[in-house]
Amino acid sequence: MNIGNVIVTKRKELGLTQQGLADKLNVSFQAVSKWENESSCPEIYLLPQIADVLHTSVDALLGYEFKTHGYYDDRYKEEEYFWGLQPNETCYEIMKLKPPTKPLRVLDIGCGEGKDAVFFAKNGYKVTAFDLSADGIEKGKRLAENNGIHVDFFQADLNDYRLQDNYDIIFSSGVFDYMKPDLRASIIEHLKEHTNENGLNAIKVFVEKPFIEVSDKKKKAFRYSWKSGEIFTYYHDWVISQMDEVIYDCNSGGMPHKHCIDIMISNKPVRKSLK
Ligand SMILES: C[S@@+](CC[C@H](N)C(=O)[O-])C[C@H]1O[C@@H](n2cnc3c(N)ncnc32)[C@H](O)[C@@H]1O
Repeated sequence: MNIGNVIVTKRKELGLTQQGLADKLNVSFQAVSKWENESSCPEIYLLPQIADVLHTSVDALLGYEFKTHGYYDDRYKEEEYFWGLQPNETCYEIMKLKPPTKPLRVLDIGCGEGKDAVFFAKNGYKVTAFDLSADGIEKGKRLAENNGIHVDFFQADLNDYRLQDNYDIIFSSGVFDYMKPDLRASIIEHLKEHTNENGLNAIKVFVEKPFIEVSDKKKKAFRYSWKSGEIFTYYHDWVISQMDEVIYDCNSGGMPHKHCIDIMISNKPVRKSLK
C-alpha cells in the first residue's frame, strides 16, 4: 500500500473525517485530501505526528508490512480465545495498587486477543492496547464490542512503535522476549519516560534457567532470552513493589513443559522539586 492508501484506511478505521484528521495535524483538509488521492505526499517532518494520530508507526505509513509470527496468527484465527477470557492475575494486583477512582490510562503491550485490556476497560480504566498480530487485534476489538466497552486497539511492533502519550499504568505479559536485546535499554527508558509520576509499570517476562529446556519451536520464534532478574535492573531507580520469579508447568501446544517468569511491578517516584 502507498502512503495515501494507508492514511485513508487508518483514518476511516478511527472514524475520523478528513477535516478531523487535518485539525489534529494542524493542516488544511485539502492537504489531507491530496495525500489520500496521491496528488501530493506529506512532508517528512509530519510523518511521526501522522503515525501517532493514526495509531500506527512510520514504517507502516510507508507501506512496510508487519512481519508477524505465524505461530500466534494461526492460533488467533481460531474462534476460541487461545489465552482464554480470564484476566491475568497481575491485573488484580494492579487494580489494588491503582484503583480506578479516576480515569487512569493503561497501556497493554502485546495484548494478544485483548482479555486483559478488556478487563481493565470494564473496570473503568482508559485503555490503549497493541499487538503485532492483526488477528489478535481483531479478536480484541470483538471482545470489547461484546462487552460494550471501548479499547483503543491497534497493530504495532514493540520494536519500532514509539509512544506520544503518557500512561498511569504500562502492562505487558509474556511479550518482552520479543524485544530485540540491543533495543531493550532504550525501549524501557522510553516506557519509563512515558509513565506519569506515581504511575507504575507491571512487566512479566519469561527468563531462561539452565535447568529448563528451550524448545526448538521457541528458538525459531524470534524470541530473545532474558536472564533471571534482568528486568529488575532496568528499574533500579524506581520503587520496586513486587519482584517475583515463578516456575510453572505449561501444556500449550499439547507438550508438557516448564516456564520461568519474572514478575515485576515498579512505581515511578515523584520527582523532588529543587528549591
Ligand atoms: C505469550 S503471548 C501473550 C499475549 C497476552 N499478553 C496475554 O498474556 O494473553 C505474546 C504476544 O506477543 C505478541 N508479540 C510478539 N512479538 C511482538 C512484537 N514485536 N510487538 C508486539 N507484540 C508482539 C504476540 O503476537 C502475542 O500476542
